[in-house]
Amino acid sequence: MKRNATLLALLFSATCSLASAWAEPVDIEALISKMTVEEKFGQLQQVSGFGFTTGPGAKAEADKQMAQIRAGGCGSILNSVGAEVTNRLQRVAVEESRLHIPILFGFDVIHGHRTVFPNPLGESASFDPKTCEETAAAAAEEAYAQGVRWTFAPMVDVARDARWGRVMEGAGEDTYLGCQLATARVKGFQRGGKFAACAKHFVAYGAAEAGRDYNTVDVSERSLREVYFPPFKACVDAGVMTFMTSFNEVSGTPSTANRFVMTDVLRGEWKFPGFVVSDYDAVEELKHHGLAADSREAALRGLMAGCDMEMSSTNYMKEGAALVREGKLPIEVVNESVRRILRIKKQLGLWENPYTKEDGEQAKLLTPAHRSLARTAAARSMVLLKNDKGVLPLSPTVKSVAIIGPHGNNQADIIGAWHGAGRAEDAVTLLQGIKQKLPGASVSYVQGCDFFGKLPVDKAGVNAAIASAEVVIVAVGEAESQSGEAKSRSDIGLSGNQLELIKLVHASGKPYVVTLMNGRPLALGWVADNSPAILEAWFPGTEGGSALADVLFGDVNPGGKLPMSFPRVVGQVPIYYNHKNTGRPTYLRPEYVSNYQDVPNDPQYAFGHGLSYTSFTVSNPLLSSATIGADGTVTVRATVTNTGTRAGDEVVQCYVRDRAATVTRPVRELKGFQRVALQPGEKREVTFTLGQRELGFYDQTMKWVVEPGEFDVFVGNSSNAEATARFTVR
Ligand code: NOJ
Repeated sequence: MKRNATLLALLFSATCSLASAWAEPVDIEALISKMTVEEKFGQLQQVSGFGFTTGPGAKAEADKQMAQIRAGGCGSILNSVGAEVTNRLQRVAVEESRLHIPILFGFDVIHGHRTVFPNPLGESASFDPKTCEETAAAAAEEAYAQGVRWTFAPMVDVARDARWGRVMEGAGEDTYLGCQLATARVKGFQRGGKFAACAKHFVAYGAAEAGRDYNTVDVSERSLREVYFPPFKACVDAGVMTFMTSFNEVSGTPSTANRFVMTDVLRGEWKFPGFVVSDYDAVEELKHHGLAADSREAALRGLMAGCDMEMSSTNYMKEGAALVREGKLPIEVVNESVRRILRIKKQLGLWENPYTKEDGEQAKLLTPAHRSLARTAAARSMVLLKNDKGVLPLSPTVKSVAIIGPHGNNQADIIGAWHGAGRAEDAVTLLQGIKQKLPGASVSYVQGCDFFGKLPVDKAGVNAAIASAEVVIVAVGEAESQSGEAKSRSDIGLSGNQLELIKLVHASGKPYVVTLMNGRPLALGWVADNSPAILEAWFPGTEGGSALADVLFGDVNPGGKLPMSFPRVVGQVPIYYNHKNTGRPTYLRPEYVSNYQDVPNDPQYAFGHGLSYTSFTVSNPLLSSATIGADGTVTVRATVTNTGTRAGDEVVQCYVRDRAATVTRPVRELKGFQRVALQPGEKREVTFTLGQRELGFYDQTMKWVVEPGEFDVFVGNSSNAEATARFTVR
């Protein structure tokens, strides 16, 4: 198709609100046939942060960036956010480059954009796909208003080691939960079809040895297929448009050069039609991995394995043309990568709508509706870990409250890492939330200490605050800088002097509750043993303080459940509920079994655990049939009853165990869950259907099979569910 730049310039209004001049759908094959090799590699290049040059040399740098875009050398830009800047850059691509191909703007819209929702692990504790879908849709809407058309989310890495800082970005330790929430998040981000999600990090990034970020991963094909692949496959099934490679190697081959995962599995088996982007500099890092001797080899390995776009580093761009000339890189491989990228641009409607409306941009951000969603999502994500003697909820008629701790009045840390375009100044702190909730009460605040042990505990201040209050809320956890990328920790207890602070409050004898705000499971030790009540709020986001006040004072009854086990001590990690039994399980005898000398095997708080201000019972499961064929299904029915005096939510969970199989199976695996809201005295029947997908596994030849034998079903309100039934597959 011919493009008339002058006509386009005329059509382009000052407000950038007009669609571009493409009168008919772009013909991708025709476009590829017109592209020079350099322009093709331009489409495979993602650059970072164009359009924001400042300081000495800014003009020269800006000119260089524009020249690169004009030359068709920039298929995508990350980290350039805002209608004005994206339009400014887009105008050069669309109006001044030879082939007028629009740029795809990407950004890490991880848990919200300007409105920050709970961090993904926290939000996963809602066990509520609908909430996850809605927050993703709202985040995409805000990001779209700022020129972004592509988020690098959801992160769907199964993670069983809380030392790894990036657990805060995923759905936790369970593959089934991970699949459900991955699907919801992709649907939310891509609602309307004008915004692309990215399933990352492909693959097994969460299996980093020793929980150290970027570290080596050595997993079997079985673990890949059973544990790490399924959430990615769920993303493909949900129509995710893009994938991102992971930084790690997978059993000897870095993901970014791993043909097995990107080409054989992703495209071959799963028929993924979209494109794959490397992680930041990951093509360059093939050299540090020791897989490529130089940049040319790095480019060749990435491209030949199926990594279409290079993020940040420039090996494809610099070496690609030479590789083609040398006959090492078939041009059809390059064309196919270009094709995949252009197809997504077309799917997103970038030719019809390359620009973003500049007037009205701000009105789309932080809307009352998004703030209200943030408050609901945060409250639904909170997990009541412990509540001895009903300390919680606190009485709304209380006259004086002391808030003590580094999270007490802290806007910067409450929004957590990866807060995208979120701003601390927009956030409601715990102190503010409680003041709003209790306008007539006296609410005092003392920081008491910091997260890092730089400040000693302010004993005088803390004691004075305690003395003047009826009840104390301790607000501790992690700073936002302690969780996220490159934030691995070898000690996952409360850092700095926070434990000393809690002990000081405890020693006063005043009633108190501990509220935790953190990205990862913590080893709580003394606190779990001694503090009367513990509420896990994660990094709750922009409306975190309001949501906390809602939950602490009982306007919202907490119903979240842990998406990841909380270990007793760090030495237990990796720890996860769906482990194998071993040949020497602890039920055999006291010694020479698989255990520790100094700590029990089980976690402090198990996967799926979470209390409520009311009480629930879950009946023994009833099965539709005691025997089914290998291609049959069995329906599991159980009744959940609110036996307490308050309305509340319970997450009914269904776990299955294949008792004996030709490949050993986990002690139990989650195969269904439902979050139900019940009034006091109300009961509801929940059903789960178990069929080939739930009962099967990969046999020794990696074929999916349902084997004859006995299966146990456990239904309850955590991974320790005890109510069981058994059926047989003939
Ligand atoms: C590196 C991170 O691993 C990835 O998750 C992120 O999307 C990119 N940087 C871009 O910021």
